[in-house]
Amino acid sequence: MTADIAPAQTPEHLRTAMVSTLLEQGWITSDAVRVAFAAVPRERFAPEASPEAAHAVNDVVVTKRNAAGRAMSSVSAPWLQAAMLERAALRPGAKALEIGSGGCNAALIAELVGPEGVVVSVDIDPFVTERAARFLAETGYGHVQVVLGDAEHVAHAHAPEGGFDAIMVTVGVWDVPWSDLLAPGGRLVVPLRFGTVTRCFTFVVDGDHLTALDATVCGFVPVQGAGAFQDQEAELADGAVRLTREAGPALDAAALDRALTGERTELWTGVMVGYGESFDSMHLYLASTDDRFGMIWADRERGGNDLVDLALRWSCPVLITSDSFAYLTLRDASGDARSKGERRLEFGAHGHGPAGPALAEDLRRHVLAWDAGWRTRADPAFLLYPADAMVPPPRQGKIFIKRHTKLALTWS
Ligand SMILES: C[S@@+](CC[C@H](N)C(=O)[O-])C[C@H]1O[C@@H](n2cnc3c(N)ncnc32)[C@H](O)[C@@H]1O
Repeated sequence: MTADIAPAQTPEHLRTAMVSTLLEQGWITSDAVRVAFAAVPRERFAPEASPEAAHAVNDVVVTKRNAAGRAMSSVSAPWLQAAMLERAALRPGAKALEIGSGGCNAALIAELVGPEGVVVSVDIDPFVTERAARFLAETGYGHVQVVLGDAEHVAHAHAPEGGFDAIMVTVGVWDVPWSDLLAPGGRLVVPLRFGTVTRCFTFVVDGDHLTALDATVCGFVPVQGAGAFQDQEAELADGAVRLTREAGPALDAAALDRALTGERTELWTGVMVGYGESFDSMHLYLASTDDRFGMIWADRERGGNDLVDLALRWSCPVLITSDSFAYLTLRDASGDARSKGERRLEFGAHGHGPAGPALAEDLRRHVLAWDAGWRTRADPAFLLYPADAMVPPPRQGKIFIKRHTKLALTWS
């Protein structure tokens, strides 16, 4: 008797299928990016993963974790690499800087800029640069310049005369010290964090500032070195639940821990969302409206899901004070519609700690305001100024002050 085993897919088959999916899903929109993805053998840049995992359109391959188990380096998911490469608009002969290395994305850039182009790829971690340089040489992209160092400091020394036509930042950053390295008409693609929210922006030079052409929801490993985030964090219940807020008074982790296991206030809003429907603009609304806004995370493996009912598994909105918090939750409100196969959910707020009831009420009011005025609005505009620029305060929005820049978020 012979077992019915499907024949193993070759990396070439997997690559062809991946490219088809990226085209179907609209992540690849140009012929140049399609050709680049069809050429780069991505499994050679992630030997720790199976070829199937290396070609999974929505999955990253983590290549390094820190002592706490957090991912510090990875090969980014194909959909995100494709989206960022499309936005970088790389042409043959272009000069490109990649911040955060690994090899795979640098090889894709090298395909796009061709033999006349320049690719500089910087990483802070010698484990990453050693591998990246080796994999690039083995796959025929040995001309990519792999540089070891903190991009905050070393990128300037490698800038060509006239600047880079594209800078692709492939690590989550809180600030942008590289705007002056852009050539006229150049593009900066960057996952930038503000108020604990991250969006991947495509910035173009626009007079004395940069203007974002788009802002996509994304997740990246955090930047290390001089530009590392300074967010406040509190780990509750031995790390089962984590709270993060960008600024404000210090978080009292012991008091917040007690708050978690104490009484819970539950408020409901009557505001509905379809099952699987995104509500990303709520994060932007809260980040630009309430200084207590932050994120709450639950670690399922450590029992976090038994302690909190988060509206989102990660990046769930929360209002935090030093000893209390209130987070966004959801409950099923399908009622009769469920029999027709429709599911809808109702937003609510769960409050913990002495100020829990007041915070839950504030969060409830924010959800109502977002639903009434912001939910269907166009995304806000994002402009990035040098730190010393005089930026007029937006009528509706917020200016996020950073070390090298100011990010202005303005609702139309
Ligand atoms: C998501 S990985 C890069 C992915 C890669 N570009 C690819 O081919 O898919 C992010 C990288 O950023 C690096 N990194 C973090 N902080 C950095 C810094 N300050 N300067 C340069 N690299 C940094 C990390 O070591 C990590 O390897």
